[in-house]
Amino acid sequence: MVWLPRCGLLALLAVALAGLALLGSPPAPSSSQTAWRRARQAAWAEEPAATASPVAAKAPDGRAPRDPAAWGSDHVDGEVPEFVEAGECLFCHRNDVGPTWSQTDRHSQTIRDKAVDSPPIEALAKDPALKPFADEATLVMGDRRQTRFLKRGERYGHLDLLSVGAGPSRGTRYRLNHTENPHWDAKTFGAQCAGCHTTGVDPETMSFSTVPIDCFACHGDSPLEHANDAKLMLLAKERHDPPEVVTSICASCHVRFGKSKTTERPYPTNFVPGDNLFRDFEVDWSRADDPHLNPADAHVLENVRDVALYGGQQTCLSCHEVHKRTTLAHRKLPETRYCRHCHEPGKPLTEHKSYEVHSERCQY
Ligand code: HEC
Ligand code: HEC
Ligand code: HEC
Ligand code: HEC
Ligand code: HEC
Ligand code: HEC
Repeated sequence: MVWLPRCGLLALLAVALAGLALLGSPPAPSSSQTAWRRARQAAWAEEPAATASPVAAKAPDGRAPRDPAAWGSDHVDGEVPEFVEAGECLFCHRNDVGPTWSQTDRHSQTIRDKAVDSPPIEALAKDPALKPFADEATLVMGDRRQTRFLKRGERYGHLDLLSVGAGPSRGTRYRLNHTENPHWDAKTFGAQCAGCHTTGVDPETMSFSTVPIDCFACHGDSPLEHANDAKLMLLAKERHDPPEVVTSICASCHVRFGKSKTTERPYPTNFVPGDNLFRDFEVDWSRADDPHLNPADAHVLENVRDVALYGGQQTCLSCHEVHKRTTLAHRKLPETRYCRHCHEPGKPLTEHKSYEVHSERCQY
């Protein structure tokens, strides 16, 4: 009966290893979730505050920062997974997510086929010197503040970016900007934009897997077996993914003040949802205290910092419902200092600030 105790030991070892594996990998979508969380919180509790963040600033309420890179794993040295693409997901999810995804979701629209009659393309085509570029452009990117023009590059998974942009002027009219020396630029999009406006960028070639933003960018490389057990799918309601995991996902594109330590590019290196973004993505947190930063970027950066450095529990999803494209939930939250980004302190919440957004990162 020698094998019995040994078997027990092995079992113990297996449990311990499983625990370690959980710490080092994306959170397991099951009851081990809570174990993962506990272990992770314990690890943080032991973290001395002094070794914590690159900016060892205390939160306004005196909380000491912790090391945002302390938990989880990343895919910086790995390959881009061969993920299931939106078309396949929507085959089953055409009724719940399909309608908003294809029509109103900005994520699915950030890069799209050009419509010849769209005001930005019309503005470009009206200028005789720029007409050839309007004909060559096949795609556009952007929204109500700035539109950019693109065409497929020579290599697969690359796009050329036109140096000229278009922003709204009066009514539905668009005004062109940067019209001097118009040219197609084959380098900028891959090196500076692709990581946040397309999906699955290969760190070596800077080519993307799909254009524009695919389900993978938020739901990760989740298995199709989730159809029988929704908990296997990242961001499924039943999972209650920890705030750090959720924040890593949204921050992987919405923090426009960071760079990858590995590539020095302004977007993450092979981030796979479930990863800890902050192991490789270095953020200039001080920008969150910049009183001149526009409310769009400021409310994002402060929220990300609050979760990543101070263990805050409120995430983007406390206010945003991505597929319904609403922020109605935010109205029910208690008023805090944070609300000042968009509501004037002392004034009723029925009023909110109007603001302009400019971004060095996005060239508008
Ligand atoms: C770190 C991720 C990131 C990088 C890198 C990035 N963008 Fe963006 N971009 C965003 C996000 C997030 C938004 C939406 C911001 C918002 O609306 O508050 C955006 C918005 C835009 C818009 C729409 C503006 C509007 O509202 O009309 C344009 C155009 C744009 N980016 C162009 C670019 C170009 C060109 C590059 C490369 C030179 C680039 N972006 C690089 C994340 C990024
Ligand atoms: C920008 C991030 C993002 C992208 C891209 C995205 N999702 Fe989601 N999705 C979410 C979040 C966040 C939730 C969870 C909502 C919640 O908990 O309130 C969610 C929830 C869902 C749900 C649950 C039902 C619901 O409406 O809440 C389904 C189904 C789903 N997503 C499918 C998809 C499919 C299919 C795609 C691609 C076509 C996709 N998602 C792309 C962020 C995203
Ligand atoms: C073969 C059909 C099928 C395919 C393909 C499929 N799903 Fe699902 N999905 C389901 C079913 C069934 C459920 C379970 C619904 C439930 O339990 O309410 C589900 C659940 C989900 C949920 C959780 C819903 C919730 O209530 O929170 C998300 C998120 C999701 N799927 C996203 C995706 C994404 C992203 C893809 C593509 C990578 C995808 N699905 C592909 C069938 C599919
Ligand atoms: C792969 C990059 C990427 C990821 C991941 C991502 N976003 Fe976005 N998001 C963008 C870009 C780019 C835009 C602007 C698109 C445009 O208007 O051209 C955007 C737009 C938005 C908008 C404005 C939409 C509107 O209706 O005007 C919201 C809100 C938003 N994202 C929330 C989220 C949340 C919450 C998450 C995490 C669950 C998330 N995003 C994850 C890139 C991303
Ligand atoms: C306390 C609630 C709250 C939190 C937390 C929050 N948001 Fe917002 N966000 C809002 C509201 C409200 C708006 C304005 C919506 C509108 O204009 O109708 C907004 C606007 C935005 C916009 C559009 C800004 C613009 O003008 O271009 C983006 C993008 C966005 N949020 C992303 C995020 C991301 C990503 C996170 C998490 C890192 C986040 N938000 C956290 C409430 C919140
Ligand atoms: C990113 C900008 C943004 C942030 C941050 C933000 N709000 Fe708002 N808020 C808005 C906008 C835009 C509206 C009007 C559209 C709407 O109701 O969603 C609004 C509307 C509201 C309303 C509805 C008022 C009415 O008309 O009845 C309430 C209540 C509210 N906000 C509370 C809050 C609280 C509490 C916070 C902080 C936790 C907060 N907001 C943070 C932008 C923001």
